[in-house]
Amino acid sequence: MATLNTSVSFGGLTLKNPVLTASGTFGYGLEFSPYGDLTKLGGLVVKGLSLKPREGNPMPRIAETPCGMLNAIGIQNVGVEVFLRNKLPLLPWRETAVIANLYACSAEEFGDLAGLFAGEEGVAALEVNVSCPNVKEGGAAFGADPSQIERVTAAVRKRCPKKPVIVKLSPNVTDIVVAGRAAADGGADILSAINTLTGMAVDVRTRKPRLANVVGGLSGPAVKPVGLRCVWQLARALPLPVIGIGGISTAEDALEYMLVGAHAVQVGTASFMRPDVAFTLVEAIEALGASLGLSSLDEYRGSLKT
Ligand SMILES: Cc1cc2nc3c(=O)[nH]c(=O)nc-3n(C[C@H](O)[C@H](O)[C@H](O)COP(=O)(O)O)c2cc1C
Repeated sequence: MATLNTSVSFGGLTLKNPVLTASGTFGYGLEFSPYGDLTKLGGLVVKGLSLKPREGNPMPRIAETPCGMLNAIGIQNVGVEVFLRNKLPLLPWRETAVIANLYACSAEEFGDLAGLFAGEEGVAALEVNVSCPNVKEGGAAFGADPSQIERVTAAVRKRCPKKPVIVKLSPNVTDIVVAGRAAADGGADILSAINTLTGMAVDVRTRKPRLANVVGGLSGPAVKPVGLRCVWQLARALPLPVIGIGGISTAEDALEYMLVGAHAVQVGTASFMRPDVAFTLVEAIEALGASLGLSSLDEYRGSLKT
C-alpha cells in the first residue's frame, strides 16, 4: 500500500501532520503527555490566554447532552505571563508547533497580548478567539460584528507581524463568510472554524439551568455537521486556508473536513472521553488515506463532488 505523506504547509505554517488539538480541551499540553507523545502531533493549541489570569465562570460549568457537551468555562487561565514563564519552556515546541489562543476584551488589548508573543520563538502562530460565547465582554460580541473582527485581526497582525495569525470564527452568526472576509481584510493568514454553538440545558425537577451561566457552548459530535458546513462555505468563498474544528474524533471525521476544504483539523471534546484520541488520529489518517489510494492530502483537499 502506498504511504501517505501527511505533512501540510499553509498560511505560513508548516506541520508534520494535520492533527492539532483544540484550545481549551487539551490544557496547556503537558497534562496530556501521559497519554501519548506530544511530538507526534502536528501541533497543539493551548488554552485561551488573557493578559491577566482569569478564574472563569462559577460552577457548574459543564453539562452533558445526548451527543455533545455544553461548557461555560469563561476562559479560566493562568494568564500570559505564567504561560510564557512556566508552561511554554516545558513544551516540545522545537518538534511540534505550539499555537497560542488569545482572548481579550478590546482590539487594543488583543494587540497588547499579541505583542507579547512577537519575540517568542516557542510559539509558531497565534489563534485569535473572537468567538467565545461564554464571556460577557468581547467574545461572541466580537464574533458577530465584522468590523470588530477586522479591527481585532489588524491589531494582532500589527503587533505580531511575523507569525501566522489564525482567526477562529463563531458559527453563531447569520453568514460565516462575512465574518471570514472581515478577518481576511484585517490581515489574517488562516481561518479556523468552528467555535462552540450557543446552547442550554435545563432540569425539569429543580427547574434550574444545568449551567450556572444558564447558557454555554455546545461542542462534540452534535456540532460536526455545522462545522463541515461552515468550513465548506469559507473554503469556497475565500482564498484563506481553513482549519476545521467540531466533533472530530476519527480519521473519517478528519477526512470529511478535508474533503470540504480544510488544510488541517483540531480535536476538541473527544479528548475528554479518550485522552489519547489526537495521538491515535495521526496514524489513523495515514491508514485511511493510504487505503483510499492517496499519496498526499493536497490532492484530496476540497475535492468534494457536488
Ligand atoms: C471545555 C472547553 C473549553 C474551551 N475553551 C476554548 C478556549 O479557551 N478558546 C477557544 O478558542 N475555544 C475554546 N473551546 C472551543 C474548542 O476549541 C472547539 O472550538 C469546540 O469545542 C468545537 O470542537 P469539538 O466539537 O471538537 O470540541 C473550548 C471548548 C470546550 C469544550
